[in-house]
Amino acid sequence: MPMVHVSAHPLVLTKLTMLRDKATHPKIFRELVGEITQFLMYEATLDVPLQRHTIQTPLAPYAGHMLHERIGLVPILRAGLGMVQPIIDMIPTAHVWHLGLYRDHDTLQPVSYYNKLPPEVDIDMALVLDPMLATGGSASAAVTVLKRWGVKRIKFLGLIAAPEGVALLQREHPDVALYLAAVDERLNDIGYIVPGLGDAGDRQFGTY
Ligand code: PRP
Ligand code: URA
Repeated sequence: MPMVHVSAHPLVLTKLTMLRDKATHPKIFRELVGEITQFLMYEATLDVPLQRHTIQTPLAPYAGHMLHERIGLVPILRAGLGMVQPIIDMIPTAHVWHLGLYRDHDTLQPVSYYNKLPPEVDIDMALVLDPMLATGGSASAAVTVLKRWGVKRIKFLGLIAAPEGVALLQREHPDVALYLAAVDERLNDIGYIVPGLGDAGDRQFGTY
């Protein structure tokens, strides 16, 4: 299975164009983040194991299926927060573990400021959520924390990546599959993705 999945779906590409547009206001921006996240989640859960589950329709018994894996969502604060509810709407049983990381503006290194992991690992697969994979430092640090915690199966879900971020995550965590809406051209000299969409946290929460 390829480790880097970049969506080519026409709906994703259309919504991503609207998301990038600097004229898009925070309300619509948040909605688009959610909608694109749901499309990516559809792909990222293709290999989730199922268990047999028999129910009764109004007419007859039906031997159906239910998800067999316990899924954990790990949003990187702040920007990853906007990806949580759209996934919980699809998978109401998902647990949410919050990790607070921000990039130091000068060094571009991730700084950890919040960590709300449960005492025991009670999930089978973790999905790290962050709209932007720039240098890859924040995502890689999040995956390192999860592995130390004992999580065995980890995926990364993001909207826009820079080639540098994809390369770093693959180098440091080659077992982590990436699900993305786009891989852009490059990082600029202050670590922003070009063409990108600007600062995903600021655009969701109106803090620019
Ligand atoms: C952004 C983004 C990622 C990080 C990506 O967060 O949401 O977490 O930068 O950059 P990297 O790949 O180079 O680590 P930011 O630090 O701006 O924090 P915020 O979400 O609170 O705005
Ligand atoms: N974080 C963002 O929100 N945007 C970028 O382009 C890079 C990091």
